[in-house]
Amino acid sequence: MNAEQRRNFSERYAAGDMPWDSGITPPEIFEILSELPPGKALDLGCGTGTVMRDLLRRGWRADGIDFVQGAIDLARDKLQQFPAETCRLFRHDVTKLDTLTSLRAPYDLVIDIGCGHCIDKEAAPGYAKAIPQMLKVGGAFMLYASHPRPDSTVGWAPAEVERLFTPKLNLVWHRQGTDTAIGVASSWYRFQRT
Ligand SMILES: C[S@@+](CC[C@H](N)C(=O)[O-])C[C@H]1O[C@@H](n2cnc3c(N)ncnc32)[C@H](O)[C@@H]1O
Repeated sequence: MNAEQRRNFSERYAAGDMPWDSGITPPEIFEILSELPPGKALDLGCGTGTVMRDLLRRGWRADGIDFVQGAIDLARDKLQQFPAETCRLFRHDVTKLDTLTSLRAPYDLVIDIGCGHCIDKEAAPGYAKAIPQMLKVGGAFMLYASHPRPDSTVGWAPAEVERLFTPKLNLVWHRQGTDTAIGVASSWYRFQRT
């Protein structure tokens, strides 16, 4: 299934069909950046690197992972003005974080905007288990996920998100809204590693 998803995402990046790629970092991310001192961040499913660019502009170091080479290439272009040691990009599957040995864990901040909710249902518990291992104690995990809908395999219900990510992580807040790019219900979550 992951191979099929990767092919689907690859084709969409190649065709420029990325409605999620607004080129704007979400306000929820700016909100947390206004609270935290610069540190190390990991963006899971980083796409074209928009959020990484805003992290780097604020003095953070940022690592990004995406399994589509086309996304990584676009991110590399977007981030070329930053020193290589401050931003690193990896073409890799986020469900296999344990095999990516060059990560700079533990991170102060881990971000997943629209990536985790795409992964196979069987892979979700392993993915959720890996997030606290990527975080410092007290570190933050920002998650954005659309809610499930009948015509798609993508989506996490809020109750499923809570089941997956607590108690290793504390839920700090949860905000429901609508994804204006695709017109579906969605949620932001802020977790903290205990
Ligand atoms: C909806 S897009 C969001 C991209 C970016 N976070 C943003 O907000 O623009 C989801 C991204 O996750 C990536 N992705 C999905 N499943 C992945 C996986 N298992 N491993 C790595 N990347 C994955 C896709 O290639 C895509 O770039």
